[in-house]
Amino acid sequence: MILDNEKEIEELDPQGMVNDLDTFPEQCKEAVSLGEEVEVPFDLNDFDRALVTGMGGSGIIGDLLSRLLDFPVESNRGYHLPKTARPDDLLIAISYSGNTEETLSALRDGRRRGMNTVCLSTGGKMEDYCARESVPLIKIPVGHQPRASTGYMLFPLLKLLDRAGFAGAVDFDRLLENIEALAESWNSSVPSEDNGPKKLAREFAGKVPIIYGTKRNTRVVAYRWKTQINENAKQPAFWNVFPELNHNETVGYQLGSDLMENGKAIMLKNGLDLERNELRMEIMESLFEDENIDYSLARAPKGDKFTRILGQIYFGDYFSVYLALLNEVDPSPVELIESFKSRLKRAG
Ligand code: PA5
Repeated sequence: MILDNEKEIEELDPQGMVNDLDTFPEQCKEAVSLGEEVEVPFDLNDFDRALVTGMGGSGIIGDLLSRLLDFPVESNRGYHLPKTARPDDLLIAISYSGNTEETLSALRDGRRRGMNTVCLSTGGKMEDYCARESVPLIKIPVGHQPRASTGYMLFPLLKLLDRAGFAGAVDFDRLLENIEALAESWNSSVPSEDNGPKKLAREFAGKVPIIYGTKRNTRVVAYRWKTQINENAKQPAFWNVFPELNHNETVGYQLGSDLMENGKAIMLKNGLDLERNELRMEIMESLFEDENIDYSLARAPKGDKFTRILGQIYFGDYFSVYLALLNEVDPSPVELIESFKSRLKRAG
C-alpha cells in the first residue's frame, strides 16, 4: 500500500509535496512572523474594501480572505479589476512567481486608477515593478509550488489586515496550535486506517469527484478541493454550490447513474451553514440514494471559523496528494500549465 510506504512515497514525490504538507504548521508560523514585519505607507483604516487579484494557487488567497475577514474583500481573477474598483479601495496583488501576466496587468490597471497597493510574491517581474513604482512588497520564500505556499501567502496578509481590526476575533496562537494538531492526525507517517485524508483518497481512487459546498460558507473549500485534485492528482474533478445546484445540476442525476459510473459526489459540511442549506444537503442525500448515485460526506474539524475553513482546506490538500500517489503520479509538476504558458508566450 503506497500511502503507508515512506520509500515509495519518496520515489513518486521527489520534489517533496508531501513534506510541504507535513511541514505546513511550520510554514504558517514563519508566515505569521513575516506579516508582523510588513510596513505600508498608508493607514489601513482609510479603506472600506479590499480587492485581491491573483490567479490559480495565488488567486485562492483572495477567496480565503473574503471568507475569513470581517471586512469586505472582493476576489478578482483576470487581466482587469472589476468596473467598481475605486481609488479608495485597497488593492492586494498576489503572484507566487511574480510573472503571471493577468495579475501584472490587473496590478497596472489598479495603479492607473490611483489605488493604494500591497503586493506579495517571491520576486519576478512583480518585484521589479514594486521597486520601480515604490509599491510595498511582501516577499515570501521561493522553491515551492504556489499551491503548496498557501500559508506563506495567506498569513502575512491576515496579520497585516488584523492590525486594522479586519480579521475579527482571530487568535493566531490558537489557530497555529490547531493546525499543528491536524498535521499530527493527517501526516504521511500516520497509517491509512487512522488517517482521514488517506481513507478518503482510497474511497475516491479511480473516481471523478464532484464536490459540493455552499455559497457563503464552503464555496472556497469546494473550489480549492477541485483545483488541488486537478493539479496534484492530474485528474478531472468538478464542483458546485448550494443552493444554486438545486436549480439545474440536480436534474443531471436523473439519467446519472449510468453515465456516472466513475463519478462520486461529496458534500462538505462544517457546522456553519444556514439551516436551509443543511436541509438541502440532507434532501440531496435521499435523492442520491433514490437515484443510485454514489456519494460521501466530509466534515470539517471542530473549532472557530478559521480552524474549520483552513482545516478543511488542509484536509483537501492532503486528500488530493494522497489521490496523486494512488494515481501513481508525481503531485508537484504541472506540465500542462507550463506548456500552456509557453505556447501563449510564443504566440505573442
Ligand atoms: O498552481 C499553480 O502552479 C498555478 O495555479 C499558479 O499559481 C498560477 O498559474 C499563477 O501563477 P503564480 O501563482 O506564480 O502567479
